[in-house]
Amino acid sequence: MRKGRALFFLVLAAAVITIAGVVSVIRRGFSAREQPSALENYLATSVRALGVPTRARNKKNPFLPSADVLAEARAHFADHCALCHANDGGGKTEIGQNLYPRAPDMRLFRTQRLTDGELYYTIHNGIRLTGMPAWGARKIKKMTLGNWSCSYDTCPS
Ligand code: HEC
Repeated sequence: MRKGRALFFLVLAAAVITIAGVVSVIRRGFSAREQPSALENYLATSVRALGVPTRARNKKNPFLPSADVLAEARAHFADHCALCHANDGGGKTEIGQNLYPRAPDMRLFRTQRLTDGELYYTIHNGIRLTGMPAWGARKIKKMTLGNWSCSYDTCPS
């Protein structure tokens, strides 16, 4: 009986939180000018982290960060990514700062803590419901991998 009551209150609490969330989203509207709330940010990045399969997360970058690979990666980054992420990875571009969510500052812990595998998975598959495209086409895979090593601590700054 006690278990039944606890379950009832749990379901009730979940329903109240869900309704409050939906009402808050509707009241705030769908403008991309708003800044995502801290809670929305936290939930979105946590769910995203859970969505990366363990095998993908543990993959290692097969490219050594040689001068050639990094030069190729920087050029590729400048061509394909800097539009939103800026050449220094800080995200301070007109497009990057007007997307919802904004392009993050990839020099910070939020991005730097990602494993090789998580970075590759993100770049290859993109991030749904954000401006981050899926770059998974075979043709650019190798370039993206080079780039990927760049988005670690060797990004141009
Ligand atoms: C059209 C804009 C746009 C372009 C072009 C773009 N990105 Fe992104 N990217 C984003 C946005 C917006 C996010 C943040 C999504 C979020 O908050 O979940 C993001 C997130 C990321 C992340 C995850 C960082 C983190 O901390 O969550 C990585 C890594 C990344 N991008 C790499 C790249 C690379 C490499 C390229 C080029 C091959 C690229 N992006 C091109 C918009 C873009």
